[in-house]
Amino acid sequence: MDDTVRWGILGTGGIARAFALGLKHAPGAVLAAVGSRTLDSAQAFARELGAKGVDTAAYGSYEELAGADGVDIIYIATPHPMHAPNTLLALGGGKAVLCEKPFAMNRREAGEMVALARAKNLFLMEAMWTRFLPALAEVKRIMASGDIGTVTQVHADFGFSATTDSEHRINKRELGGGALLDLGIYPLSIACALLGKAESVHAEAIVGDSGVDTSTAFIMKHGGGTLSVCSCSIRARSASELIVSGTGGSIRMHRLFHLTDRITVELQDGSSRTIPTPYLGNGYTHEAIEAGRCLREGLIEHPLMTHEDTLSVMTVLDRIRGQIGLRYPSDT
Ligand SMILES: NC(=O)c1ccc[n+]([C@@H]2O[C@H](COP(=O)([O-])OP(=O)(O)OC[C@H]3O[C@@H](n4cnc5c(N)ncnc54)[C@H](OP(=O)(O)O)[C@@H]3O)[C@@H](O)[C@H]2O)c1
Repeated sequence: MDDTVRWGILGTGGIARAFALGLKHAPGAVLAAVGSRTLDSAQAFARELGAKGVDTAAYGSYEELAGADGVDIIYIATPHPMHAPNTLLALGGGKAVLCEKPFAMNRREAGEMVALARAKNLFLMEAMWTRFLPALAEVKRIMASGDIGTVTQVHADFGFSATTDSEHRINKRELGGGALLDLGIYPLSIACALLGKAESVHAEAIVGDSGVDTSTAFIMKHGGGTLSVCSCSIRARSASELIVSGTGGSIRMHRLFHLTDRITVELQDGSSRTIPTPYLGNGYTHEAIEAGRCLREGLIEHPLMTHEDTLSVMTVLDRIRGQIGLRYPSDT
């Protein structure tokens, strides 16, 4: 491939728009094509969000996008239960894939996606964008510096008061609704990025009338004797911060931690300092840049968001769901 990474976007909803805007700030990336269930929607999206001077192709089906010429990588922006089938479709068309979170509905689906990418030697990554933000890199750097002593704990939560519209995907079981898969995956994934794989997990949840979890809390034990305490809710406007604590102090990723542009370090001696950690574009730019870098280097996974990382997160999500009795049609 030449240096330009030609992106296709599959789906034209909220996150597809945000990603397309983020892509505009990624050097060497263009929105080459968009696929929707309806041609009108694809055309309107391409007209509004296509790059200047680039003829963004619009397709009225996901199949056409998967088979299109002139597309290197497809960003999957559909509701959770479609992630696996849409990713398999795109990989089947010979395209690399960046797939929204949660990567799949369960570990079984995720395994099939990874297996196909490996068999076809195609790049595949979960779009857990926080892993690539400057704030997380700075937190890791400070942890490694020994500034806060020996790291022992992470506390993280993510909650907001979501719509109660029973037709919205967040409240709909058939569309993978609930707090855990939409929001809880952030504290879970970032705690594992900071402390390593979860060895065990214990969870409690409130399940609403719609049959999906409205609030879930879980504690994980990580390798090396560290703990993370996490929660998520679609019925609580919580602090949505993350705090890493060690024997000599703490690091706070401010509200909303998953896209924060500043962190604060507090030390045992009472001193504190706030460090700006600005991101490019709207933040999604970083994952687009990193996926593009992997494509140029011929990698099929990113070292900061490996297939194994994703499969491990999916395993923990399955365990939590088993403990709180949260099942989806995709599980059968
Ligand atoms: N990384 C983040 O910050 C972030 C933020 C929000 C959401 N997300 C993730 O992105 C995914 C999409 O979320 P969203 O908020 O963008 O959803 P959304 O606004 O409802 O858009 C989803 C799009 O998927 C397509 N689609 C295909 N089958 C569908 C179906 N049965 N029902 C509804 N839409 C269907 C539609 O596009 P067409 O009509 O064009 O086919 C629709 O516009 C979710 O998995 C979510 O977890 C990530």
